[in-house]
Amino acid sequence: MNKQASFIITAVENGIGMITLNRPKVLNAINTAMVGQIVQAMEQFDRNEHVKVIVLQGTGRAFAAGADIDEMLEKNTIELELLNQFEDWDRITWVKKPIIGAVQGFALGGGFELALCCDMLLAADDAEFGFPEVGLGIMPGAGGTQRLTKLIGKTNAMKWLLTGQRFSAKQALDYGIVNSLLPAELLSEETMKLAKTISEMPPLSLRLIKEAVHKAVDLPLSEGMHAERKNFYLLFSSEDQKEGMCAFKEKRKPVFKGI
Ligand code: CAA
Repeated sequence: MNKQASFIITAVENGIGMITLNRPKVLNAINTAMVGQIVQAMEQFDRNEHVKVIVLQGTGRAFAAGADIDEMLEKNTIELELLNQFEDWDRITWVKKPIIGAVQGFALGGGFELALCCDMLLAADDAEFGFPEVGLGIMPGAGGTQRLTKLIGKTNAMKWLLTGQRFSAKQALDYGIVNSLLPAELLSEETMKLAKTISEMPPLSLRLIKEAVHKAVDLPLSEGMHAERKNFYLLFSSEDQKEGMCAFKEKRKPVFKGI
């Protein structure tokens, strides 16, 4: 049987589902199979009651240096359109649990787009971000023009998309693309600390907060408010709401069950 190579490593530890991109020789260039594996791992973690939060990280010198250029070189419009690989990328949007990205080294092109699919990003001080696609005669196709523009505004996004230049982790922090900047040697430890803090929160609240925040990005305020309120009321039918509030009154640590 022809067993497909694995381009990622997964693990579950203390409520944290880890996905490590693992093609360091080509700076974790993302091929079609790797996207499928990332999405499948995320969907499995999403269904796994032992996983509360997902962490996505790179290896070696890169988070990921973009989509795999070798794989795209000879492709034409019809082949790409039929392959419809971005449908896989879009499935990341439907993952309900929080996703934390830990970026070290290069996060370029599709690698940057993958980082932008995360709900929070921590970056090592050596991280570099950018969309070099313009220099290859193409453009981002996995959400780069949309997500970057929503995050940093039209004029800033235009500069990086039209020049293909790279920007630093500090600039990414100033733009609000990343939550924190860390010495490279502390990135993994600090990411796990943040993941642990979140993993101890009630799972239903986490999922419904994430859903509401995503609506805020896409919907007009009135519709977003409506969605928020529905989720707020919904949480009052959970045992964890009673547990959280009783524990507060009884001055003890709550024990959440995710129901
Ligand atoms: N695809 C395929 N292979 C890649 C790659 C990519 N995106 N990025 C790096 N590699 C490979 C290189 O070909 C090289 O392989 P060999 O050793 O076999 O030659 C290996 O990784 C190491 O890379 P370099 O020798 O180039 O390392 P460097 O330190 O000199 O440069 C870099 C690092 C600046 C990141 C450079 O590798 C680079 O510019 N990479 C391409 C970045 C890019 O253009 N990304 C966008 C891709 S298109 C895209 O992502 C479309 C989309 O929206 C979905």
